[in-house]
Amino acid sequence: MDSLQKIAVCLLFLSVSSSAIDSPFATFICSDVKAEYNETAVISCICNKKITNMVVKRCENCNKQNSCLETIINTWAGNYSSEKGRIQLVIQNNVSELHIQEVKATDQGGYKWYLYSDNGQPNGCTNLEITAPEIEPNFTGYGRKLTCLSPIGHPQRQIHWFDGHRNNLTGRASLVSEEAEGGLTSLTSTLHETPTLTASEYCCTVLYDVHTKRNKTKCLSAHKAVADYLRFTPTPDQEIPKTMKDPETPKTMAEHVPIILVLIVLVLCCFAAVLYYRHRQRAMAKGNFADLLRTLLPVLKQHEKAEENAPNQEV
Ligand SMILES: *[C@@H]1O[C@H](CO)[C@@H](O)[C@H](O)[C@H]1NC(C)=O
Ligand SMILES: *[C@@H]1O[C@H](CO)[C@@H](O)[C@H](O)[C@H]1NC(C)=O
Ligand SMILES: *[C@@H]1O[C@H](CO)[C@@H](O)[C@H](O)[C@H]1NC(C)=O
Ligand SMILES: *[C@@H]1O[C@H](CO)[C@@H](O)[C@H](O)[C@H]1NC(C)=O
Ligand SMILES: *[C@@H]1O[C@H](CO)[C@@H](O)[C@H](O)[C@H]1NC(C)=O
Ligand SMILES: *[C@@H]1O[C@H](CO)[C@@H](O)[C@H](O)[C@H]1NC(C)=O
Repeated sequence: MDSLQKIAVCLLFLSVSSSAIDSPFATFICSDVKAEYNETAVISCICNKKITNMVVKRCENCNKQNSCLETIINTWAGNYSSEKGRIQLVIQNNVSELHIQEVKATDQGGYKWYLYSDNGQPNGCTNLEITAPEIEPNFTGYGRKLTCLSPIGHPQRQIHWFDGHRNNLTGRASLVSEEAEGGLTSLTSTLHETPTLTASEYCCTVLYDVHTKRNKTKCLSAHKAVADYLRFTPTPDQEIPKTMKDPETPKTMAEHVPIILVLIVLVLCCFAAVLYYRHRQRAMAKGNFADLLRTLLPVLKQHEKAEENAPNQEV
């Protein structure tokens, strides 16, 4: 009976004091926070009492409190910041604020709080959600190979495949995930259809939120994929030489002009040679003028000598 009375008195005292000066125990309010990638996230808690110290641990998420292993803030140890100041704690009387600058996708998760005040040590957990840029997928069809690229985005997004009748083709695709800056990822999903594209249309969906089904979808008709394949596939004996020859065609024409001129000159020379040869043959057959000259030449020379000697004799 004694103890019961004590409890009753205690309860009475508590209710009186709480109505007079609020609750005697420290209570707090922290709200879940959503931040855009690369912006500053502020996780704030308001306590009804002056906050004297604080410890913050990072968790996978608040539902898995056994995952809260990494201590990022511990004012007892003089730790008001971590990651070279990217994460900072500001305490002002009954308000504490954790500032996380240039948030990365990897900052997403739970933040477990231990507040210390003169009137108690409440604790809780706050979830931080990071929203990453949601850019349209780049969908390319190349023959029987269809590729859907989501170059950057939240690591938790997914790529799904459908045909024109909304049949799920995701099981036939292979996914490659690569790490990008700030914990974001680049996703490339490839669908190989053998031996031909069986559906008339293919759609690639990047699902950003599994719960709200928020997504961006791009579709491609099989006809276009095949058309692009034919257009872009170089057939060695046709496409490449054709495109390489085209700009050179005027050049070869120009190169041919001197060759043609040389040929014409050669033909003319041959013609002239033939004419000359025939003419000479005809002249020789007639017992020609040249022979006559040759026989006359010594006679002429003798006559010349005679003329030369004549003046000498005169002198
Ligand atoms: C993030 O923001 C900082 C400025 O706050 C800027 O210098 C940096 O380029 C940004 N990074 C990305 C990946 O947008
Ligand atoms: C926190 O402190 C401010 C004054 O510093 C006060 O006005 C406010 O009511 C306090 N908040 C709570 C929840 O006690
Ligand atoms: C913060 O904590 C780390 C260990 O987690 C310690 O090495 C470091 O010295 C502390 N920083 C300050 C300013 O006390
Ligand atoms: C899509 O990807 C192709 C090949 O990877 C590239 O040439 C094209 O520029 C990309 N388009 C956009 C809009 O990113
Ligand atoms: C499509 O199928 C895959 C398994 O092949 C599954 O993981 C995925 O959730 C399905 N997508 C939809 C939207 O039903
Ligand atoms: C994509 O979003 C639309 C609404 O915009 C929805 O009807 C569709 O079911 C979503 N797709 C998937 C795969 O969740």
